[in-house]
Amino acid sequence: MDKMVVQGGQELNGIVSVSGAKNSALKLLFASLLAEGHHHFSNVPKLMDVDSAANLLHSLGCETHREGDSFDVIVQRPKTTEAHYDLVRKMRASILCLGPLLAKYGEAVVSLPGGCAIGTRPIDLHLEGMKALGAEITLEDGYVKARAKKLVATNFLFELVTVGGTENIMMAATLAEGTTVLENAAKEPEIVDLANYLNKMGAKVKGAGTSVITIEGVNELKPASHAVMSDRIEAGTLLIAGAISGGEVTVTNIHPEWIESLIFKLKEAGFKVSTTDNSVTVHKAKSWQAVDINTAPYPLFPTDLQAQFMALMSLAEGTSVIGETVFENRFMHVQELCRMGADITPKSRVAVVRGRPGCLSGAPVMATDLRASASLVLAGLAARGETTVGRIYHLDRGYEKLEAKLGALGAKIKRVQ
Ligand code: UD1
Repeated sequence: MDKMVVQGGQELNGIVSVSGAKNSALKLLFASLLAEGHHHFSNVPKLMDVDSAANLLHSLGCETHREGDSFDVIVQRPKTTEAHYDLVRKMRASILCLGPLLAKYGEAVVSLPGGCAIGTRPIDLHLEGMKALGAEITLEDGYVKARAKKLVATNFLFELVTVGGTENIMMAATLAEGTTVLENAAKEPEIVDLANYLNKMGAKVKGAGTSVITIEGVNELKPASHAVMSDRIEAGTLLIAGAISGGEVTVTNIHPEWIESLIFKLKEAGFKVSTTDNSVTVHKAKSWQAVDINTAPYPLFPTDLQAQFMALMSLAEGTSVIGETVFENRFMHVQELCRMGADITPKSRVAVVRGRPGCLSGAPVMATDLRASASLVLAGLAARGETTVGRIYHLDRGYEKLEAKLGALGAKIKRVQ
């Protein structure tokens, strides 16, 4: 199993370009199931999760071709509309094929994704939304079985903000009869990206990016081409990498408004941050102040940057309180950061980080989930000595060539077997 070895203490300096967003690419690939024919995507990141999505599409009878960052999907009427457990368990986002299959073919059988390292993560709201659209849903032998001759528009209020739930119902409603209104919808930029693609396919989606999305159902969608938006979480991770190393890093190919909450917190901590239309620079700082964060749905601080920001706060002057309101059990990096010398006390969904500049020293540590792995790599950049991060397959699920990007900025980082 591969490990990442980081020699700490190198200042990161330079310019780095962000890849396509994993959390958008996966949904776009599943959305292609809504229209038979040839779909073309560009700016698709090379990631394990994208491979998992491609495997699932193959199992549903699609052909896929990748060349560089281009990805073609040829959708054909599937022999089966079943997404098998072996494919779904590798990637929770696979549940996002439910809406498209149900809307297009009137039935779908998708394995329940099951528990996950960062909490139980139910899909009850996905299923409630499908039911509201007229689907008959049963749970049998670990599978969701959904059936509907024709979905019928509905007004649906999400009890809590769910990104995947909003996307699944939005996709399903594109082919429903009548106009669906989704309230308390998630507002993430990835939802806007998905809506833009659906509209290119002939859907009539309005309001994506706000909490009310209206979808006027159409009879048929057609294949389309689309460039995947860039990855705001990768951008944030690279900026925190620059900050924690005491260097100056410019991240390009990113709209600053997508990471405004991070920029705000970096500034509050004392970093100078400058922006252009498509880049963000974090400037050199020798020390920084502790600030509190609470994760919450977009546009507030993303849960996917909480672990990385905690690594930064472990080296701040003062005490920060980090609240995780989106997922339970998303503090698994705490123990490993403490093994590197951080002083963090987690209690339920709050972690108290008593920052101490220079407190981190290299250690062998173990990645537990995607963003936790990133936080350990960042901590390693700032630690004295060598950090070895094990189980980096988590990292490969969501970061394209992270070691190459950090290496080009001056990090001493390598992958070993
Ligand atoms: C997506 C992102 C993930 C990010 C998360 C929150 C992808 C592939 N993943 O995950 O990186 O961390 O948004 O920004 O895009 N919930 C329910 N019932 C449901 C659905 C969700 O209770 O039916 C709960 C979840 O357990 C969680 C919260 O709602 O506590 C938010 O989850 P959700 O927004 O759905 O996250 P994902 O779409 O799974």
